[in-house]
Amino acid sequence: MSGLSRRRILTSGGALGAIGAMAMTSPAQARSLVKWTWPVSGSVAGTGAGTDPRWVWDEEADALVASLLDRGAVPEVNRLLRTWTRNDQPLPDGLPGDLRDFVERARRLPPWADRGKLGTAVSFNEKRGLYLGVLYGLASGMMSTVIPKEARAVYYSYGGANMKDRISKTAKLGYDIGARDAYRPDGEMVVTCVKTRLVHAAVRHLLPKSPHWTGVAPEDVPISQADMMVTWHSLPTTVWRKLAAWQVPIPAEESSAFLHSWQVSAHMLGIKDEYIPATWEAAYDQAGQVLDPVLSPTPEGIELADILLGLGGGIDGGVLSRPVLGSFTRFMLGDQIAEWLKIPREPLWDRLLTTFWGPFVAVREGVLDAFPGADNIYWMFDEFLRQAALVYLSEARPISIEIPTGNRPS
Ligand code: HEM
Repeated sequence: MSGLSRRRILTSGGALGAIGAMAMTSPAQARSLVKWTWPVSGSVAGTGAGTDPRWVWDEEADALVASLLDRGAVPEVNRLLRTWTRNDQPLPDGLPGDLRDFVERARRLPPWADRGKLGTAVSFNEKRGLYLGVLYGLASGMMSTVIPKEARAVYYSYGGANMKDRISKTAKLGYDIGARDAYRPDGEMVVTCVKTRLVHAAVRHLLPKSPHWTGVAPEDVPISQADMMVTWHSLPTTVWRKLAAWQVPIPAEESSAFLHSWQVSAHMLGIKDEYIPATWEAAYDQAGQVLDPVLSPTPEGIELADILLGLGGGIDGGVLSRPVLGSFTRFMLGDQIAEWLKIPREPLWDRLLTTFWGPFVAVREGVLDAFPGADNIYWMFDEFLRQAALVYLSEARPISIEIPTGNRPS
């Protein structure tokens, strides 16, 4: 480890954080599902029509935003909504009546939202913020690049040409869900979700008009309810799988609270209650059906992953960050995904992570005594987590999520 100065380690951690911000990047799925067999009895609704969610989008928001776009109202709507940031804030004057009516309905929390659980989720996010930064960033963020429909939608949508800006916007959702006041009146999560719902509705209207959106399956009006659940699983379910694999001890109450905060987010993003898993067991079951089988590489996803891994270049010239970020991605998502994304092996980093990450977590969690000589490595891992969380948060703040009026310009 002697060749690794603290500064180099720190800057590479910062670079990771930039990717951490990508955590919540957006959208889709690639190889189609063969069949939707997940039972509605496992959902928060408990009942429902059981309609295949590949054929369900967001009727109300989609019709509304299509009309706003066709009427040329979106630039003015974006301008007015820029000042609407807090959950309890009245909508600005001057919004079109149909949009106002929709937002007033869409901003209400579902009747099953449990304030107590949302409060527990906040404590959990605070306690586990360091792990969450890296997991949202590298596990969820990089996974989004091997969700083919998501990768293609992101790449060809307006924001695809400016990933840095896009990352800041998407990080906002990750920041807001973890914030102390997330769903409380003074928080911003409700606003972020409702705006994101409008953005997704715009993408459904715009992307099929892109010259690049040809030759995809007829079901591929982007961002179906199935696509939404795929991306949802790349977030909380993937994070949960990793925390379990690392044997991080989590009380049952916090486990169900974290899930609850994501169930509420799903609802607020326009996912129907009959598709939202009620328990972790139901979530794992659904992820096995909708997420795991669709992961695969695409040229667009490979390029997006490459951009993400290179983002640290602005911080340290990419000398160390790219190898570290690549190695972390391999460690989190496995060899197959790393190969798909053309991430080279990094003998030093790969070995360090495979050998020491497990014991590092155990020492951190107080279930194992540190063994002599490993202090520097543990320190480095700790810094890595810290920097990731830091940059993740700093990426998220002053950004306004806006409805696009076009696709990727170039
Ligand atoms: C935009 C989150 C699912 C495609 C966004 C934004 C957020 C977000 C916060 C706003 C940031 C921005 O404007 O760049 C999420 C979450 C999802 C989800 C939390 C699921 C739980 C999806 C899916 C797709 C998708 C399934 C596509 C298949 C997009 C695209 C944009 C976007 C293309 C940006 C439009 C643009 O850049 O012009 N998403 N998303 N998202 N999302 Fe999602």
